[in-house]
Formats: sequence, C-alpha cells, structure tokens
Amino acid sequence: MRLLFVSSEVYPFAKTGGLADVSEALPRALANLGTDIRILMPAYACVLRQVSRAQPIADLSGILGVACARLLSARLPGSDIPVWLADAPELYDREGLYQDSSGQDWPDNARRFAFLSHVAARIGLATLEPLWQPQVIHANDWHAGLVPLLVSAHQGPRPASVFTMHNLAFQGIFGPEVVPQLDLPEGSFSPEGAEYYGKISLLKAGICHADSLTTVSPTYAREILTAEYGFGLDGILRARAADLRGILNGADYGIWDPAHDPFLAANYDSARLNGKKLCKAALQHELGLVADPEVPLLTFISRMTEQKMADVLLELLPRLAAQGLQLCVLSDGDHDLERRFREVASAHAGTFAVRIGYEEPLAHRMHAGADLLLAPARFEPCGLTQIYAMRYGTVPVVRATGGLADTVVDTSRTTISDGTATGFVFAEPSAADLDAAITRAVAFFREPLAWRRLQLNDMKQDFSWNRSAAIYYSLYQDLCARAQKRASPSRVAGLRNGTPAIEKATA
Ligand code: ADP
Ligand code: GLC
Repeated sequence: MRLLFVSSEVYPFAKTGGLADVSEALPRALANLGTDIRILMPAYACVLRQVSRAQPIADLSGILGVACARLLSARLPGSDIPVWLADAPELYDREGLYQDSSGQDWPDNARRFAFLSHVAARIGLATLEPLWQPQVIHANDWHAGLVPLLVSAHQGPRPASVFTMHNLAFQGIFGPEVVPQLDLPEGSFSPEGAEYYGKISLLKAGICHADSLTTVSPTYAREILTAEYGFGLDGILRARAADLRGILNGADYGIWDPAHDPFLAANYDSARLNGKKLCKAALQHELGLVADPEVPLLTFISRMTEQKMADVLLELLPRLAAQGLQLCVLSDGDHDLERRFREVASAHAGTFAVRIGYEEPLAHRMHAGADLLLAPARFEPCGLTQIYAMRYGTVPVVRATGGLADTVVDTSRTTISDGTATGFVFAEPSAADLDAAITRAVAFFREPLAWRRLQLNDMKQDFSWNRSAAIYYSLYQDLCARAQKRASPSRVAGLRNGTPAIEKATA
C-alpha cells in the first residue's frame, strides 16, 4: 500500500494542536502495518530549523506562480518514514503557522494551502519528479481540502482520496477574489464544488470530492450530521453519510507514557505510583503553588477557546478557589480570555497558576503532576488530552460529546467496582454541570481506596493506534479494490504487472 499522508502539522516539526499528534502517530502505526507511507507538509521556518540534511528531490517552482520552491525529503525522528517538505519560502518561511504574532491570519492563507494541495495532487498524479505514485492520498483538514478536488478532476488513472475532518469549526473559507489565484479545474467554484455562500470553502471541497470521508470519533461522525454540530455543512455531510466513518484517534505511548517520559521529575507506572506524588510536588514547586499533597490539583491544558469552554471555566474559578482546589492552566488562544485568566490567577497566587503560551514539556509535567484533567468542551471531535491524562493516572472530567463521550466512562459506585470507571462525565456545557462534575470528582479524590482504583483503571486503558490504524488500512484497501474494479482492463494492466511503471525508490 503506497500512501501519501498530507497534513499541515506534524509533531515534533510543527504543532498547534491534536492534528500534529495524529499526523505523527498514525503514519507510524500505518508504517508498522507495512504501508509505504510518505508524509507531506509545508516547510515552515520551525520545521527547517529542526531538520538537518533534508534532500531536495523535486523542483516545485512555477506551481501557483511561486517563483522558487522545491520538495525536500526529511525523516520522521526515530523512524524511516519520509517526510516530504514543500519548501516555498515566500509562502512558509514565517514564524506563525497560520497567523502573525498579533493573531491575524496570514492574508495569503488560501494560496499557501492551495499550494500544498497542488503539490500533493502532482505527486498523486505522477506529474512531478520524483516518480513515486501513491495509490491513496489521505488529506487532513481544510489545509489539504483541495487535494480530493484536484485529483478527482483528473481524467484517467488517479489515486483514491480519503479526507479526514479533525474539526468542522475550521473550514478554510476565503473571499471569491482568491479563486483565480488557486488554479482550480473549471467549474470548481460552484455549489457542487468548493463554493460556499459566495465564498470558497476548502473544507467543503474536500467533503464533496473525497472518495471516502472520515472524522476522528464515532460520536462526532454522528453529531456532524445535525444542525447543532454541523457548522453549516450538515446537509452536505448527510448527503455523503454513506461514505463517512468515525475512526477514533489514539495515543502514541512512545511519547505519552509516564514510565519513560523524559520531561518528568520522576517516572512511574501503575506498580510504582509513588513517582506521581513526586511529579505533583515538583509541579506545585515549579508553578509556585502551595506544596500540599492532599489538596486536589486540577489542570487545563488546551487551546483557550469557547470550543474548550474556557469562558465557562473562567466563570467557575471563584468557586474552585472557595473550595480550596488548586488549578494550573497551560493555554493560549483568545487574548481577552487569556488576560482574564491571568487576572484571576494573580488574585489567587499559590492556588491558581496560569501559563499562557505553548510549552510541550510543561504539558507533560501537568499531565503527570495533576490529579484531575479538565476537558470540558462545547464540541470535541476526539480530544487527546483526556486520553493522555488517563495513562498518567490523572482522572479526566469531560463533557459527553464527540470523542470525549467515546473515551471516558463516568464514575459511580457501580462502575468503580466493575472496573469500568475512568472519569467524570457531564451533560450540558454549563458552569453548573461542570461544577457538579468537579464536585463529584473531588469527593472521590477524598476516598483514597476508590481513587486508587480509578487511577489504576485509567492507567490500564489502551488507546494505542494499532486498532484504528488497521481500520484506516482496510479502508485504503477497499478504495483501491473499488478503483481497480472501476478501471478499464487496459488501465489496470500497468498495475497488474507488479509495481507501476512510475514507481522508484526515491525518499
Ligand atoms: P485540539 O486539537 O482541539 O487542540 P486535542 O486534545 O486533540 O485538542 O489536542 C491538543 C494537543 O495540544 C495535545 O497534545 C495537548 O497536550 C496540546 N496542547 C494544547 N494546548 C497546549 C499548550 N498551551 N502547550 C502545550 N501543549 C498544548
Ligand atoms: C482537532 C480536534 C480534536 C482532535 C484533533 C486531532 O483539533 O479539535 O478534538 O483530537 O483535531 O484529531
């Protein structure tokens, strides 16, 4: 199986959220299943700083009028997986992935990600050196939404396309004036194509043209068919429901496991939980919180947005302080919310610690040092922090939506004793419901035996990628089989003779 995996973010090269984690971990798991996989991403400034000895393998100059561009080949750290970097300095040699330092979207984002999609399509259609041709292109999120449109417009043999939606709130919508810059096939700017209320939607382009659609949890796959969660695309998604699947994300336990996490003050596992106490003490010290092993320490590691109910959590802070709970926040996003969180934290020094910014090592230390992870959300396609938290024996408090509902089992006397309890689940995206869930969680925290059972249940959960990667793999196989059936005998002949004429070992 030859697969091109296209993503705007790949950990550790470039990350703003869970897409990067998935784009590192899923390709690794697919490679373990024997997939001949190449990842394609933009060569942002932060990526080029991390790769040494990237080899130029093709000239990309001229695509979308970009004067000087090339394809570089690097490797995913600690693996043989090629990461192909679209190196177009005029588009990507900047510090922010999507925005400048003041939080403004780059004005040429449509062109930047159309370029990425054109490169993917050219690799897919073998119109570019090096001549390695994927059988399937797996495109992720709006940044790669034009890939299915571009390949499906091709007359003749073409790779199958899978389009994964990680979050419908981000759609890549741009004014009609950008359309002429994007070099799209004729007729693309139409209601059946990428047109969306007079604008162009790169997400819609992917949804309408991919051979297969996936999203990142079974519950979210159902939710997005409703007006409440569909972000205006539920009608189109319902029309494609037969081709849509929810495949749950996993965790890369090579990165997220307290037994060997290099960022922690002490390593631990379920048989040596003492290390977790040391991590809590170290975190309290690092963040200037009162050193107290008995006080429940809550953490919120998240983009600071309304999606993540950061505004609701803010409302609740005085109550948490009144209950004597500690809270540490690691977050960035909405500047107004950030300021208000900072203000509350400075009024409660020693009890609340708020770190605004993006700090990967600190995220690990918070996962390990906290007792409870708050993962409230108005919607959550999958959510990864609750999955990571469980492995660290940090009990998640989540709203019953999307992947949160699919990964966390609410705690009661019954679920504690039958060994299924893993966290605290609440229903409505309100301060009252979040508060009630935290209150329940804290009551269990005060019962050491019950709490220990809950932690151990959490730590033995297995969300490794093997299962979901196998589902993706069989999806790719189905698509290839369907394509072969459709193809005329003369078209398949080249493939039947073994490797296609265009394949070369290049990466
Ligand atoms: P989303 O992709 O919607 O932001 P996920 O839960 O899927 O949510 O993934 C979030 C990822 O980003 C996790 O790896 C989490 O640890 C990380 N993360 C979120 N905010 C920060 C931050 N401020 N600093 C470091 N890591 C963060
Ligand atoms: C998105 C979603 C998140 C998901 C991540 C990876 O950012 O908001 O729920 O876990 O993508 O799929």
